[in-house]
This record gives sequence, C-alpha cells and structure tokens, in this order.
Amino acid sequence: PLMKDLFGLVELEEKIKKAYGLRKVVVIPGDSESSPEVKRELGRAGARTLLSFVENGDTIAVTGGSTLAEVAEQMSPLAAGPLKGTWFVPARGGLGESMEIQANTIASKMAKRVGAEYRLLHVPDLLSEDAYQSLVQDQHIQEIVDVIRRSRIIIHGIGDAMEMARRRKLDEDSIRSLQQDGAIAESFGYYFSEEGAVVHKMLTLGLRLEDIMQTETIIGIAGGRSKGKAIHAVLKFGHEDILVTDEAAALEVEKEI
Ligand code: G3H
Repeated sequence: PLMKDLFGLVELEEKIKKAYGLRKVVVIPGDSESSPEVKRELGRAGARTLLSFVENGDTIAVTGGSTLAEVAEQMSPLAAGPLKGTWFVPARGGLGESMEIQANTIASKMAKRVGAEYRLLHVPDLLSEDAYQSLVQDQHIQEIVDVIRRSRIIIHGIGDAMEMARRRKLDEDSIRSLQQDGAIAESFGYYFSEEGAVVHKMLTLGLRLEDIMQTETIIGIAGGRSKGKAIHAVLKFGHEDILVTDEAAALEVEKEI
C-alpha cells in the first residue's frame, strides 16, 4: 500500500472508481504488456480480489484469455480450507481461443487450485446458426448453461476489438463490419463501441447479455497501455463492479474520463 501511495495509484483508483461508479478499483504499478512480472502481479491481484468476494456455495463464471490464465496460475489453496461447495464454470463456450487460454481450461484450473468443483461447457468454435439451434436443444448442454446463468460472480478479461477478432480468426467480412460498427472492445464474446454499446455478438452458448446485466458481482481484469480504450468502452457498458488493472492501462483510461 505504501508503494501505491508513492506512485499516486490510490488517487488513480479513486478517480476511476468515481468516474464509472464502480465498487472497487485495484491498480498495480507497471505495464503488464511489456513485463511478464507485472502480468504475474496483475494475475495475483486478480486472484486475491476474486477470492475476497467468494463465499462457499457460489458459482463463478470465468472467461478465457492470457490474463485470466494468469489469475488461475496465481491462485493457491485458501487457509480456511477447500471451497468444496463452490463451482467454477466457463462464462461462454467456443470463442476460438487456443486450449491453454480457453475458459474451460481456466475454470478447471481455478477449481483445482482452491479445492472447488467445476463443470465444463463443450461447444465447438464459431458455430453456425443450425449447429447453435440444435445445441440449444440438447439436455446436457441446457443443464450446464442453466448453472452458468445462475453465477453470482463473473470474472472476465477485456481485449482490443481488432486484436481479439484476429486472434479468434474471424473472417475478413466480419472484421470489416466490426470496424464499420466502431467496435473498440471485446469481452465475453461481445463487441462494444466507444460508448459501451454492444455492436456484435459471437454466436455461442453460456451467459447472455441479460444474464451479465443481472449478475451480482462482475470483476473485469485487464492491463497494458494498448487496452485503455477497450477498458473504457466496457466500463461505459455500465455493468462492471470491480476493475483490476495496471498503471499503464489506468493512465489511458484516465484520459478518456
Ligand atoms: O475478451 C478478452 C480477452 O479474453 C482478453 O485476452 O487476457 O489474453 O488479453 P487477454
């Protein structure tokens, strides 16, 4: 905490918290984009923040991404014992990420780290409308989707729209239309404009926008200078409760206020 005061980070946390009406903001020193150590610290801050909100019996939905993978990596067993009645589930399925950073992988890793339970959602990447319609009917899928939709806590990453579209191998036509619609940020498979409006949705199962809007505690975690605008866009969406970020991103967010 003393270091934070020295860098003026507490003030920055307060400023962002007020500007977007958040419950809590955590800013760690440095730029996680250029330093793997800072990324680890960001993961650690995310793990600590998440666990401070978890009550036994909770269901926690998690997204994919390298930042969430780091949060999982930084989790360790709790002094109070295993969270036996707590469930970790993926927020949404099949968004086209590589195995190591898929939501399923991260949910199972987090659960194992803290002695909790997990359930997985197996949905192929980039569904067609037909495939989506038949998966929705499947009873096992319906069961797990119901569990996901009852999550009390969501923890999710935030990405730059174009970077995420390329990483998920969207076709050129979709990328062009995202650009035309002014997509700035991506999170949970939804693309957001600068004003925080949803301009595009990936066709997949799991949390819907209306579920996200009703979830009690939503924790966004993202760092790095290039993510400032994307973080601002998701905060403008207006359903975040907690933000965990780094100094480099926070300074960019401050410029948007
Ligand atoms: O939706 C956004 C991405 O999950 C962020 O991924 O943590 O690897 O930047 P990242």
